[in-house]
Amino acid sequence: MAKRGARLLLFLLFLSSLRSSRGSRHADGGLAVRPFTLFWFSVEPVDTVAVRGAPVQLNCSVQSDTTSPPRVDWKKDGTFLNLASDERKQLLADGSLLITSVVHSKHNKPDEGVYQCVASIETLGTIVSRTARLTVAGKPPTDTRDGCWVIRRGGKH
Ligand SMILES: *[C@@H]1O[C@H](CO)[C@@H](O)[C@H](O)[C@H]1NC(C)=O
Repeated sequence: MAKRGARLLLFLLFLSSLRSSRGSRHADGGLAVRPFTLFWFSVEPVDTVAVRGAPVQLNCSVQSDTTSPPRVDWKKDGTFLNLASDERKQLLADGSLLITSVVHSKHNKPDEGVYQCVASIETLGTIVSRTARLTVAGKPPTDTRDGCWVIRRGGKH
């Protein structure tokens, strides 16, 4: 029984190592040395202002001359988003990212940041879009995003 458990554990470790090596290959983005003439971004995300509690969409679309469909991922502030575990974010069929309800409070600003669309075709490589900054309109009670903004008392601006 214990042996079986150990085997299962090894197998899971093996799986997760496969995953993480794959992740890092994506993450460096530096393997894209070949010129890509077979797939490219037809739409790239642009700087967008979102409204707290409302949906916002960052657009991305890939065109390809090949039969293999590109896989699209999104990075926020340089880190791949795990969309499978994020109920508020959806990858749309064309590759766009939909945030169904923007969260923005004094101490919790998970959505603001710099986004990039990353497209991969297994045999060809990976392309990374331009960056797009998502900002949330209106201010939470005090904006301490980087610890050095102070809203003036009684300030109406
Ligand atoms: C994103 O695409 C949708 C649907 O094509 C469009 O309505 C929307 O204006 C686009 N948004 C931006 C920021 O380009």
